[in-house]
Amino acid sequence: MTLEHEEVLVRRGPRSGLPIVVAVHSTALGQAVGGLRMWHYPDWRDAQADALRLSRGMTYKCAVAGADKGGGKTVVALPSRTDDQLRRAALLDAADAIDSLGGRYATGPDVGTGEPDMDVIAERTSHVFCRPASSGGSGDSSPHTAAGVVATLRALVGGSVTGKRFAVVGLGRVGGAVATALAADGADLVLSDVDAGKRALAEQLKATWDEPAAALTADVDVLVPAALGGVLTEAVVPELRCAIIAGPANNQLADESVADLLHERGILWAPDYVVGSGGVVNALAVELDGSGPARAAELVEGIGATVAALVADARRAGITPARAARDRAEARLRAAAATRETVGSGRG
Ligand code: PHE
Repeated sequence: MTLEHEEVLVRRGPRSGLPIVVAVHSTALGQAVGGLRMWHYPDWRDAQADALRLSRGMTYKCAVAGADKGGGKTVVALPSRTDDQLRRAALLDAADAIDSLGGRYATGPDVGTGEPDMDVIAERTSHVFCRPASSGGSGDSSPHTAAGVVATLRALVGGSVTGKRFAVVGLGRVGGAVATALAADGADLVLSDVDAGKRALAEQLKATWDEPAAALTADVDVLVPAALGGVLTEAVVPELRCAIIAGPANNQLADESVADLLHERGILWAPDYVVGSGGVVNALAVELDGSGPARAAELVEGIGATVAALVADARRAGITPARAARDRAEARLRAAAATRETVGSGRG
């Protein structure tokens, strides 16, 4: 059994007492980046498993996006009841853990964390993206992730979403923004969230509201998974009634083989780590490359063309878009590893 990850740090936060996991999957292309997820897990080992999967996804996300960055992720396992004081303690604990890696990994927002949290992280480490603009950061990444998703959806349905049917499952900061943009363009929407309070958004957008399980298998043109991972299981594939699946949720496939099952059913699955790369693309462009908002938006918009190109490549080669994306990422990772070896032997 090989350990694919370069480093996994697990610690009980000294302030919060909560499990903190920082997974650095790969720095082959550069510093590992990936958000901080604060979520509820049955056991700290489940949080660790999530960090392992999510950090791997970030390696592929950065590789296909063309960024010279690797993949990492931080996960904090929250108890069922939290308060502001415990959250702050956990953020500081996570920040210390991140800082102890000496810059090999930098964090950002993810499920359960947002812009103001990044300022708390910054109290203890400089390795953090997406601080508020008032603190010199690029701000919340979710509108940019959403913009990349919408660009992808337009590209996949042939330009205009008007009159097309979409099911958006998950109405958090990204899913909610995607739904709002689609509604503004006259799309026909089925919306869903585990939080029934999000029903108000569905009403506001004049969309149909459904339970998550029903929305997943709704009769639509495009299914947009925008919540947590693992929703596309072997069992759900035969029940699906969409032609295309493209959304920002990380790790949508319960198992990589589900991509083949979807392909066999004639459902086009756009790799989640490409569709959902807008947040990180924007943050890197603004914070590292000094791009202005217009240039950054152009790069995010380009995600649509990247997905379309992957789909075209896959068709030509008779493979799944999942495979085409993986090949593209792994080619970059291999090239980086080869360069490293050459440099290494040159020195040695
Ligand atoms: N949550 C983001 C993602 O999954 C992570 C991120 C965004 C990291 C922006 C850094 C900057 O892609």
